[in-house]
Amino acid sequence: MRCLSRAICSKIKRLLLLYVILAILIVIIILIHQQPFSLLYNSHKNSKSFKYASTYPGSFMENYKRSNESYCNFMYNLPEEFSYEESDLEYSPELGVRGPYRVLYNIIRAKQNSSSAAPVTYATHLTPDFVSYITEVVRYWEGPVSVAAYVPDFDADILTKQLINLCQCLPAMSKVSVHYVFPKHHTLFVGKLSEIPSTSSCAISDVTNTVTYRNRKSLLYPVNVCRNVARNASTTNFVLVSDVELIPSRQLASRFSETVSKLIDINFPSRVFVVPVFEIENFENVPRNKKDLLTLVKQEKAVYFHRHICSHCQKFPGIEQWLDQDPGNIVKLFAATTRVFPYHRWEPVYIGTKNEPFYSELLSWEGKQDKMTQVGNVVWHNANETFSFNPNIMYS
Ligand SMILES: *[C@@H]1O[C@H](CO)[C@@H](O)[C@H](O)[C@H]1NC(C)=O
Ligand SMILES: *[C@@H]1O[C@H](CO)[C@@H](O)[C@H](O)[C@H]1NC(C)=O
Ligand SMILES: *[C@@H]1O[C@H](CO)[C@@H](O)[C@H](O)[C@H]1NC(C)=O
Ligand SMILES: *[C@@H]1O[C@H](CO)[C@@H](O)[C@H](O)[C@H]1NC(C)=O
Repeated sequence: MRCLSRAICSKIKRLLLLYVILAILIVIIILIHQQPFSLLYNSHKNSKSFKYASTYPGSFMENYKRSNESYCNFMYNLPEEFSYEESDLEYSPELGVRGPYRVLYNIIRAKQNSSSAAPVTYATHLTPDFVSYITEVVRYWEGPVSVAAYVPDFDADILTKQLINLCQCLPAMSKVSVHYVFPKHHTLFVGKLSEIPSTSSCAISDVTNTVTYRNRKSLLYPVNVCRNVARNASTTNFVLVSDVELIPSRQLASRFSETVSKLIDINFPSRVFVVPVFEIENFENVPRNKKDLLTLVKQEKAVYFHRHICSHCQKFPGIEQWLDQDPGNIVKLFAATTRVFPYHRWEPVYIGTKNEPFYSELLSWEGKQDKMTQVGNVVWHNANETFSFNPNIMYS
């Protein structure tokens, strides 16, 4: 899903910097087949758009003070030094021993407070040049955050130092767990860690232009290995596998779990909850609820995710109706669907369980449609409170 070429990339980045996940309403897909299913909830209002008062992710940190203690639970003798045994390494979840990647789980183990956290994990993946997006995610996501980082060779050094720094500055880092993924022929390298900056400032600079080992060596980004690792390492049953640039709407995790806890049939196996994703223009206020999102859509300052490069990838069934509906403050089911023509190339972002099929680890970021094979065969149906099931109806 990341842009396919550098040129397109930078253009798009300039145009649309922030992405918003809005899930005041949720679409349900039935992954395999089986009974349709439906529910509708409504909500009370309370809305105010959030001011993203900054030029790059993490710039809000300049107001934070460095603590001399870490908010994170570092493992492998970190943050003083980094040492692990060969036996600590695991294989990637899908390819296993025949795959070229190795995984060191839980470099940082989340200090999750299970009694207070929403039981949905935000599972994501990144390279060191995207680390500052974590700060924006942990600001808004109430549940645990599981991060699989692709850190061949000295990228592990860059990221480890970045993390030590963030962990002294941002209390919300305590809910983050971090896992390192690397090719077996470019093993982790972490240099001396004693030189922690002595400044008390927590301001972080824009790291998006960091020169990484991966860039230098033009290594492919095994995005689906990272997605599988982040999801496998999550400590909750429900998981939102997301790209780290996607900022969740207000209380998405807790509202989702509230909604889902009311479902009778909670263990229904092949079901995922799709979260609509929009892109907004750089420097706009990030909408924190659907009402504000709709305002931006009307002003043409927000569009479906990736509409400019891949309109079929995210355009979800019933989007026009979705955009028409009154906003509410509760996450509720919008429609149930399955994935057939013309939505067969739909690549949704969704909340599912740890048991969804693996993302195909043979596909990389640079390849097209990385999520495609994972979603598999789904058939569309229409659902309402009355549970109608009709595989042929489309909202178009
Ligand atoms: C943290 O710093 C303060 C002074 O800034 C010092 O008094 C305190 O002992 C330090 N704590 C630790 C655990 O180093
Ligand atoms: C899932 O993660 C655990 C560590 O959290 C690891 O021991 C296990 O091997 C992983 N499973 C797969 C399939 O990778
Ligand atoms: C866990 O959450 C409860 C309730 O919010 C709080 O009282 C408690 O101090 C928290 N514990 C930790 C270790 O953060
Ligand atoms: C569900 O059905 C009822 C009654 O037929 C209708 O009023 C309502 O608008 C429908 N809701 C959706 C989301 O289609």
